[in-house]
Amino acid sequence: MKVGIIGSGRIGSNVGALLAQAGHEVFYSFSRSEDKLKRLAAEAGDESRWGTPAQAAAFGEVILLSPPYTALDSALQEAGDMAGKIVLDTVNPFTAQGPAYAEGGTAAEAIAGRLPRARLVKAYNHIHYQDIAEQHHAEPPLVAFICGDDPDAKAVGGQLVADTGFYVWDLGELAAARWTEPHGPLFNRPMTQEQAAPIVADLPPLSRA
Ligand SMILES: NC(=O)c1ccc[n+]([C@@H]2O[C@H](COP(=O)([O-])OP(=O)(O)OC[C@H]3O[C@@H](n4cnc5c(N)ncnc54)[C@H](OP(=O)(O)O)[C@@H]3O)[C@@H](O)[C@H]2O)c1
Repeated sequence: MKVGIIGSGRIGSNVGALLAQAGHEVFYSFSRSEDKLKRLAAEAGDESRWGTPAQAAAFGEVILLSPPYTALDSALQEAGDMAGKIVLDTVNPFTAQGPAYAEGGTAAEAIAGRLPRARLVKAYNHIHYQDIAEQHHAEPPLVAFICGDDPDAKAVGGQLVADTGFYVWDLGELAAARWTEPHGPLFNRPMTQEQAAPIVADLPPLSRA
């Protein structure tokens, strides 16, 4: 698939490299360094490209949205319309003062509100970039939780996450991002499927959370 990457830092570059290794075409954007974008595209191989966020958004059938929360406004503004696109949202809402939302509020839902015509899937945000870089295709695999309100988008996005070497676990609706974003019990806690099962089973229903 064609994947436009907006934010080519620790997450964007590592996920991009794994997607390219799995045979997907990647387009890197939204770095402050053109040289870095060129280098990442060269390392990812012949099918890889780099350019502006608007070009990445136009290129991708799927968009990996991975800017820092503090640069989210410019990333979205520069990317422009993502109507109909599947957007893998990796963003954790950290500011200089700490997490931006109290427990319960999520960046996922805030971003979905700003991209009402995109098909948002929360992904990768609970996994430390070093685990993405070093623990992909582990045996047994680490769990990568996803959630979202569009089942078809989750099927496509989830397959991409699986292609990068993780066991994909669908937590359900987008509001489940409250479990994987910074205040949540699944945040930054690398787990196999077996280790995750009792923790997920203990999560209260979202309606009562
Ligand atoms: N780090 C983790 O382990 C981790 C894990 C899961 C999710 N996340 C989330 O995923 C997102 C990306 O995280 P990351 O660790 O990949 O971030 P990062 O390494 O800081 O990369 C951010 C990317 O955005 C670019 N960017 C463009 N304008 C920027 C600006 N004004 N200020 C800062 N960066 C700017 C950076 O440019 P340059 O290339 O010039 O630096 C870089 O390519 C964040 O929302 C984060 O919370 C992070």
